[in-house]
This record gives sequence, structure tokens and C-alpha cells, in this order.
Amino acid sequence: MRQPSLTSIASYQALQAHAQDATQWQMRDLFAQDPQRFERLSAEAAGLFLDYSKNRLDGRTLALLASLARERGVERLRDAMFAGDKINLTENRAVLHTALRAPQDKQITVDGQDITADVHAVLARIRTFSDAVRNGQWLGHTGREITDIVNIGIGGSDLGPKMVCLALRQFAHPRLTMHFVSNVDGHDMDAALSRVNPETTLFIIASKTFTTAETMMNANTARAWFLRHAPEQALAKHFVAVSTNVEAIKKFGIDPDNMFPFWDWVGGRYSVWSAIGLPVALCVGYGYFADFLAGAHAMDEHFRTAPIEQNLPMILALVGFWNREFLGCPSVSIAPYHQDLNRFPAYLQQLDMESNGKRVTRAGDTITDYATGPVIWGDVGTNGQHAYFQLLHQGTDVTPMDFIAALRPAHEFQNHHAALLANCFAQSEAFMKGKTTDEVRADLAGQDAAEIERLVPHKTFPGNRPSNTILMEYLTPATLGALIALYEHKVFVQGAIWDVNSYDQWGVELGKVLAKKIEAELNGAAQPAQHDGSTNGLIARAKAAV
Ligand code: F6P
Repeated sequence: MRQPSLTSIASYQALQAHAQDATQWQMRDLFAQDPQRFERLSAEAAGLFLDYSKNRLDGRTLALLASLARERGVERLRDAMFAGDKINLTENRAVLHTALRAPQDKQITVDGQDITADVHAVLARIRTFSDAVRNGQWLGHTGREITDIVNIGIGGSDLGPKMVCLALRQFAHPRLTMHFVSNVDGHDMDAALSRVNPETTLFIIASKTFTTAETMMNANTARAWFLRHAPEQALAKHFVAVSTNVEAIKKFGIDPDNMFPFWDWVGGRYSVWSAIGLPVALCVGYGYFADFLAGAHAMDEHFRTAPIEQNLPMILALVGFWNREFLGCPSVSIAPYHQDLNRFPAYLQQLDMESNGKRVTRAGDTITDYATGPVIWGDVGTNGQHAYFQLLHQGTDVTPMDFIAALRPAHEFQNHHAALLANCFAQSEAFMKGKTTDEVRADLAGQDAAEIERLVPHKTFPGNRPSNTILMEYLTPATLGALIALYEHKVFVQGAIWDVNSYDQWGVELGKVLAKKIEAELNGAAQPAQHDGSTNGLIARAKAAV
């Protein structure tokens, strides 16, 4: 159904009028005027605390944003998603990653099929298999225990399990080393294979479609390498697959008994909760994997039932929309102040940018009068502070930040943790407050007056730069699950407001088709085609180097 254009609806126009004033506000003043600002502009659910008070908004802004969400039908679309309606319109699919973490007694059906039963049947298989590998019952073909697991996948079939295994390293099995090979660059495969022994290695071929070129090439290379060291019948002990495509798996030579299925209503970037999370279950054990799912489910329930004004994903999305649309911020930087979350920004990049990097509405109209998904990027604090934070503090673009931290560490070095949290809180304070020219002058008092005036502009910070801070007590499987679900639903809400289909990804197809053509030309399997001058020149140089 064609929605009225975002910019034409009453709540958008009310926000636009409000923004005339609000964009002039200084956050320093807002804090000075309202001693309760932190209490008013913070919320808590599913083990996560969100402070969004360091944004250029007030209670009225939020009320207007909540009206916009209502007028835009966000709650209706949310309910349709949870109910299994086919909201992925261009692929005619339901969007039900939430069903992957729903308890067994929750009835969810797709096309008349009870999918909760299917989900729990696969979870039971994941449990049996991961237990067997972890407790040493599942042995390699020469009778040795598995020591290394190599996950071969890309995009959602890589980023999720890799990020989660790193984040939960405190809970990892001591005997199992996890490896993730995603890149078609042979250096990636080379690095993994050079560190493992075929007798004690388990390969997981993870691909929703089982057609992704990079994964298929890597899978074939791993198989050929393995068969140089072991007989064909040993494959069954060393290769398993995760996919929706049984036929392709059989063709590849993997026993369907060694296949862990999932379904087309699970998007690749939303698939870590499915059998794509098998490496997580192997690494931390099924019990913690179940906790991870339960943490996400707790966030789902909160998202489904809490009023917009107290609903963490809604708030995070609406604040992000405000910053994008009315403050004109083109990107969002994610700063986890937790080393174990160092792949979290990369994970969010796919989640957010592949979902909302769209330029047409759900009805197919070109969007010309508002901006959609921002660029998502970032790295762990404190490292980023010594690299790109300069631009964030004093550059000409304003980049909203999401700071993420655990209040308690999982190590014994308390002084490190105090230093870490101090930096996290200091950065958001500095972004908010900045440093005025008078403060700079006061700092430089006593120096030569002309020298002071020369330095003042360089040492001034404009401040008034927005940020959110998300806190959890510890980084655990459950809080990590809730954190990921928080961002999944944030992306959903923003997609609903922008009226884009957050669940397809046609934009990655063109490059795939062209790469296939060029690969044949580079291999000599096809005559060089007529490309543009630049592409022809690059192909010629590559051919000359062979
Ligand atoms: O090309 C993009 C994409 O389809 C992602 O959406 C997906 O996560 C990734 O490729 C991998 O796909 P598959 O799991 O089918 O190999």
C-alpha cells in the first residue's frame, strides 16, 4: 500500500517547525535548566540502560517523534512482523528472526506451518551436536577430539557468529579454537589452514543460499585441502553445513544428516539466532547459546509491548531519525568501550546499512525529499580516541555516537576498568559540553596575550554533539542477545518511518554479476568484453601481471 510521503504528514511538519528552535539549543543549557534531565531522558529494559539525555532534544521533541511513529504506523508494522505477515514485499517473505528466540510454547505459523516446532527441533539438534563436539564424543576420522572449528561463510553467515564468539570469549571452551574464513582472498583461507590440523578440524559451511560465490570457492578449497590429507569417507566427520538449500548441500557432498537447516523467513543479517549460530553453540556451549536467545527474546517482548515513550528500540530509532533528518548527520559512530565487542561496529554495519541503505519506498517511489540510512562505522574505545575522535570533536560534520559499556569487567584489573569507564563517560561529556573560548583563555592565562589569541580557535571545541550511552552490568550471553535485538528493532523502526523495505538487499547484486564476468575474462575463460576505459585498463594490468 502506498503511504503518504513522510514529509507531507502532520507530525513531520510539526517536527520541522519545532526543529527551527530545537536545532539552536545548546545541550549545556538544557542540562542547566533541567536537573532531572538524565532521569527523564533515560530508560531501561532487558538488562540494558539507555541514556539519551545528551541529544539536542527535549520532552516535546520526543512527544512529537512518538506522534510521528504512530502516524507512520510503526506499531502496526511491528505487530505484522511479529505475526509473520510477509512484510518483506520484494521477496514475498515473512520476517521472523524473533521466532528463532521465542519459547517453545509460543505458536507462530507461516503459510499454515507451525514454525516454533521446526525452530525447536533444529535447536535440539544443535544442542546434541555441540554437546558431542565439546565433550569429546564427536571425534575426527582418526579418533582424535576436535580442537579447531573453521566457519566458512560471508556477510550474515560470518559477521554474527564471529562477533558473538569474540564477545563471549570468557565463556569459550578451552579446547576449541574458532576460525572464521569469509574473504575470497586466498590469504584468508591460507591463514586459517596454516593453523589447523585436518585430523582435529571441523569445517562449517554456512550459507543461507549455498550459492554465494565467495563461500562456495572457500568451501571447495577447504574440501580439496582436507582430501589431500584424508580419505573421502572422512568428510562426514569433518564437514557440516548450515543452509536453507538442501539440494545444493547434497550436491556439494555433505550428508543431509550433517546439515542444520533454517528458513527463508530469516534474513542473512538476522540469522545469528538460527543454525548460523552453530559456531556460538560450539564455542560457548548450548546453555549459554540458549541464554543468548533468551536475552534477545526479553528485548523482543519489551519492543512488542512497551509504550513508544519507554520503548528502548523506539527511542534509539527516533533519536537517530531526529539526528539524521533534522540535524543533518550523515553517519553514526559506534564506540563499544569493551574490547570483546570489537567486531560489533562491523556487525552493525551490515545490520543497519544493508537494511536501510535504500532509496525507494516500499511502493517503489524514488525518495527525493528526505534522507534514509546513515553510514555506520566505529571501533572500540579507547583506541578510537587516539585515531579518529579528533574529527568527531572538531571536524565540520557532526557525528552522533553510541557509547556502549559494561559496568563490571570480567577480569581482575579493576584499575583498568575504572580508566575505561572514565574515558567513556569523559568522551560523551566532552562531545556534549565542548570547550568555550573563555574556558580556553582561562586555561592559557599567564601566557603572552597575542599567543593566547592565536591558539584560542584551535583549542576551542564546539560541543553540542549528540551521543547515547548504553550500559549493561556485565557483558553476558543474555545482555549481548538483548543488545543485538535492540539494534535490530531500531533498524526496523527507522525503516518503517522511512518507508523502505529493510529486508531485501538488491544493491549487492550488480557487482556480483559483473565480478563473474570479469573473473572469466581474467582466467582466460572469456574474451575481454567492452567495459569502460578504466575497467579495461585495470583488467589489462591484472592480466599482464599473471
Ligand atoms: O550478498 C549479500 C548477502 O546476500 C547478505 O545479505 C548475506 O548475509 C550474505 O550475502 C551471505 O549470503 P549466504 O548466507 O546466502 O551465503
